[in-house]
Amino acid sequence: MRIDMIISLVGFRGSGKSSVAPLLATRLGMKFVDVDQEIELRAQQTISEIFANQGEEYFRKLEAETIHVFYQSDNLIVATGGGAILNPQTQTLIQNSGPVVWLQADVQATVERILKDDHDGSPRPALTDLDFQQEVKTLLEQREPIYKAVSNIQIDTATQTPDQITDRIIQYLEVSHRGKQ
Ligand code: S3P
Repeated sequence: MRIDMIISLVGFRGSGKSSVAPLLATRLGMKFVDVDQEIELRAQQTISEIFANQGEEYFRKLEAETIHVFYQSDNLIVATGGGAILNPQTQTLIQNSGPVVWLQADVQATVERILKDDHDGSPRPALTDLDFQQEVKTLLEQREPIYKAVSNIQIDTATQTPDQITDRIIQYLEVSHRGKQ
C-alpha cells in the first residue's frame, strides 16, 4: 500500500501516539515525526522547561509552526501533541493532509498511563490549576468533541497494546484505500 499523504495521530496525553507512530512507520515503510520531540530539538529545551521559561502561549506558537513545517511534506506519519488540535489552523491542516487517527482512552486509563510515563521519563507540565485527576477529566471533556470532529477513525487504546492499535490502523487504511480504487 502506497500512502502519499500524512497520517496524523491525535489524542490526549498518554494515549499512545508516540509509541504507535514508530510501529506504524516501520509497518508501512514510512518516516514518522513526533511533534513534541521536534519542538524540544528546535528549542533546545524540554517541553516542561518551555512551559516554565516562556509559558504555554509560546509553546503553542512553536507547536503550530513546527506542525506547519512538517505538513509541507507528504508520505509521513505525525504524532501530534495532545493539545495541538486546539489550534483551528492545525485542525484544517491535518484534516486536509490525509487520514487522522484518534487514539482514545478513558479518564482512568489516561491518568494511569500519564503517571507511569512521567515516572519513567520527564514529567509533563500542568495545563491548569486543577489537581491532576480533575485536570485530565476536565480537559478530556473539553477536547473529546474536537478529537472526534477532526478524526476519521477512533481507536479505544485502553485495552489494546501498541501492536494491536497499529494492526487496527493498518486495517482501516487498507479498507479506505480499497474504497478509493
Ligand atoms: C500537551 C500535550 C503534550 C505536550 C504538551 C501539551 C497538551 O503532548 O505537547 O505538554 O496540551 O495536552 P503529549 O500528548 O505527547 O503528551
